[in-house]
Amino acid sequence: MNQTAVQTKSMTASKSKTDTFYTDVIEGLRATPKRLQSKYFYDAAGDKIFQELMDCPEYYPTDCELDIFANKTHELAQAVIGDGDAFDLIELGAGDATKSSYLLRHLQQENVDFTYLPIDISTNTINYLTVKLPLAIPGLKMKGLNGEYFEMLKKAATISKRRKVVLFMGSNIGNMPVAEATTFCAEMRKHLSPGDMVLIGFDLKKNPKTILSAYSDSQGITKRFNLNLLTRINRELDANFNIDQFDHYAMYDPETGACKSYLTSLQDQLVNIGKETIRFIKDEYIYMEISQKFTVMQTDQMAANTGFKPANRLFDSKKWFVDTIWVAE
Ligand code: AVI
Repeated sequence: MNQTAVQTKSMTASKSKTDTFYTDVIEGLRATPKRLQSKYFYDAAGDKIFQELMDCPEYYPTDCELDIFANKTHELAQAVIGDGDAFDLIELGAGDATKSSYLLRHLQQENVDFTYLPIDISTNTINYLTVKLPLAIPGLKMKGLNGEYFEMLKKAATISKRRKVVLFMGSNIGNMPVAEATTFCAEMRKHLSPGDMVLIGFDLKKNPKTILSAYSDSQGITKRFNLNLLTRINRELDANFNIDQFDHYAMYDPETGACKSYLTSLQDQLVNIGKETIRFIKDEYIYMEISQKFTVMQTDQMAANTGFKPANRLFDSKKWFVDTIWVAE
């Protein structure tokens, strides 16, 4: 392809990304009740705010999973090594791989035969990992895969026929309603063979106040994280949300384990997004995100419903979070 063709192709790709974003936003805000998809939180500013959130004292899930990876590394490694045959360690949504690096380093030190295949939608992330990890963990065999999870899982199967171990950490599974999470796991199973493994990070039900304050932190970082999506819509979709006229509200239902985030309109207002006008009445809400919490029994149930057998569970020291290891049946 010549330079112009490459440029045209990349312009078309980014136009269609913006088109999808626009369609999703308009569809969501025309619906009753209004909703936005939390996957759109993560632009460059959103990534930064999320980093702040992970460092804030009330947001515990990251620390809990770090506790598991940093302090139960040997147990974790033994579980994924299984019978000892060579394997591909695939990470869905690898990010900066802070937590998984503990496992990678340990496996490398033990001379385990594995290749790390981080999958991420962000080209920057994959480029960063490809440069950083082999320097940090000498001898590490890795190949970054840039794209959608299931497309890249398909690609991983063509790269090698070795056993697969898939990491899906960070309680990202909780950002889907339970039915969708179940479909996701069933889909993941379709890309795997019997004996392959998945490790999934589930945030567990606990004192409701602990959960609520993680999503309603005292410094207002979660509020900024949610409002940032409106700023992103203003910038990328030619909209005029008045950010000061929206507030953040989080609630946790201990019965269902659903923690939900909303933005509420502080007044009657009209918002233009491109050629569309969206009407908000005072106190109307936009449903922004679910962060589902689970019991251990529910995680076992999900394994059974999606073609996996629970093999191992690793808890943090407070037992607030679990990394479950399932084997594909
Ligand atoms: C990425 N995800 C698992 C986070 C969570 O806990 O649901 C996103 C988040 N939303 C608000 N705080 C953190």
